[in-house]
Amino acid sequence: MSRVLNPALRQKITTAEQAASLIRPGMNVGMSGFTGSGYPKSVPQALAAQIKAAHERGEPFMIGLWTGASTAPELDGSLAEVDGVSFRTPYQSDPIMRRKINEGITEYDDIHLSHLAPMVWAGSMGRLDVAVIEVTAIKPDGTLVPSSSVGNNKTYLDLADKVILEVNSWQSADLEGMHDVYYGTRLPPDRMPVLLTHAGDRIGVRNYRVDPDRVVAVVETDAPDRNTPFKPVDDASRAIAEFYLDFLTNEVQHGRLPGDLLPLQSGVGNVANAVLTGLLDGPFDYLTSYTEVIQDGMVDLIDAGKMTVASATAFSLSPDYAAKMNNQARHYRDKIVLRPQEISNHPEMIRRLGVIACNGMIEADIYGNVNSTHIMGSKLQNGIGGSADFARNAYISAFVTPSTAKGGSISAIVPMVSHHDHTEHDVQVLITEQGLADLRGKSPKQRAKMIIDKCAHPDYRPMLTEYYEHALKTANGLHTPHDLRQSLSWHIRFLETGTMKPS
Ligand code: COA
Repeated sequence: MSRVLNPALRQKITTAEQAASLIRPGMNVGMSGFTGSGYPKSVPQALAAQIKAAHERGEPFMIGLWTGASTAPELDGSLAEVDGVSFRTPYQSDPIMRRKINEGITEYDDIHLSHLAPMVWAGSMGRLDVAVIEVTAIKPDGTLVPSSSVGNNKTYLDLADKVILEVNSWQSADLEGMHDVYYGTRLPPDRMPVLLTHAGDRIGVRNYRVDPDRVVAVVETDAPDRNTPFKPVDDASRAIAEFYLDFLTNEVQHGRLPGDLLPLQSGVGNVANAVLTGLLDGPFDYLTSYTEVIQDGMVDLIDAGKMTVASATAFSLSPDYAAKMNNQARHYRDKIVLRPQEISNHPEMIRRLGVIACNGMIEADIYGNVNSTHIMGSKLQNGIGGSADFARNAYISAFVTPSTAKGGSISAIVPMVSHHDHTEHDVQVLITEQGLADLRGKSPKQRAKMIIDKCAHPDYRPMLTEYYEHALKTANGLHTPHDLRQSLSWHIRFLETGTMKPS
């Protein structure tokens, strides 16, 4: 049975090909989608086919593509494959899109996830020509039941000149009621406090509104979300999780955190998911989370009765867990709240709730600066995503990584990061499988010793100590000692020889 229950919008049901043909070269298109959830499944692929055909005729055809965050092969992958994206924002993690960005075919603006909606409202990103949004159903009154991610959909639906809706009957009808769509955000000087004081608060409405006159096509689909499965928890991830848990336990014992902790945020990636899994065996009950994505580990915590409520903007579940969520959405509906990303990642809420943030990273330097986005300074991996929304505003901000990468040929602790995402001022705790460095209340020199001793791999500890002592002398003991002739020599050595270790 069709889920398009509004008579006027029923009239607009059409094919993906017809809908895609309304998107013309040079347009800015805002699509739904956040970490493999709730992205349109058929219009982007139809559009990719039309772009490919245009290129074969020798006609240029590229679009500007805005989303919530990363999507899946059907969206980012298919459009990138045909060189169809001239500009991409605010986050991606697709291998083909990543390659096109690194090849210079697609320009990429790596934006804090909480920033994009207000920037679109302000007009700073240019005009939004078309929105392509996946929803679960269209209600008789024309409101739209969100699907497995909310992201920037509210903003795109409100601002786009034309709206294309994909109504995906694969998404559970029981998702209705899980969402909290807040329509109260304004631009300065008219901003008002956002009155959300507990992770589970609902302050908005269940469904999106849309001006039916701007809806130009409705496409019915029945296709699953496609997230990458998490890697099995390995020894390094397990060790990182244990250090994190010990740290939290110690904070509770010293009265710096309540026994049920504060709302948890967990970043993307395998290590961050493993940390959540570690909490399953931890001593904490009645946990809450105020985060960006609900990962497998968080569902396990809810199932185990360890977590009472989880607030996010999207699911980021492996295929098995996505199927489970789909089958049991009714059961999870009062334990999970999905919100627009400008609220899930809002600095005001993160600061007020006292979120404990834990994000993955690529490398950290001996002073606590963190690189989350670039390999060897130049090559984009994914993007900053919401990590800085949380890290800057969290009550406690931790970053985690295995101490080495690429079979030990790279140290994740380096003299100087090759790209800066989070400065030393936003990084309070660093954790690798070697140990945990609590950087709070430490000067740069104290931090350097602690990071080398606790977090670096033993193979690299002597080299790091040597660098630090040399820098101390070269810089005459100045506040943050570096020898700029040597600070990036480790990266250069890797690029030249394939390992950071000296021959
Ligand atoms: N130097 C070079 N390469 C490195 C590296 C380093 N120091 N550390 C990791 N890598 C490589 C890995 O080898 C791997 O490469 P491959 O894909 O060719 O195998 C790749 O980077 C990803 O590493 P992995 O260990 O699988 O990372 P992860 O899944 O734990 O994710 C981040 C780590 C940093 C990439 C991920 O957390 C991220 O994108 N963060 C930024 C966004 C964010 O934090 N969002 C959360 C906000 S809520």
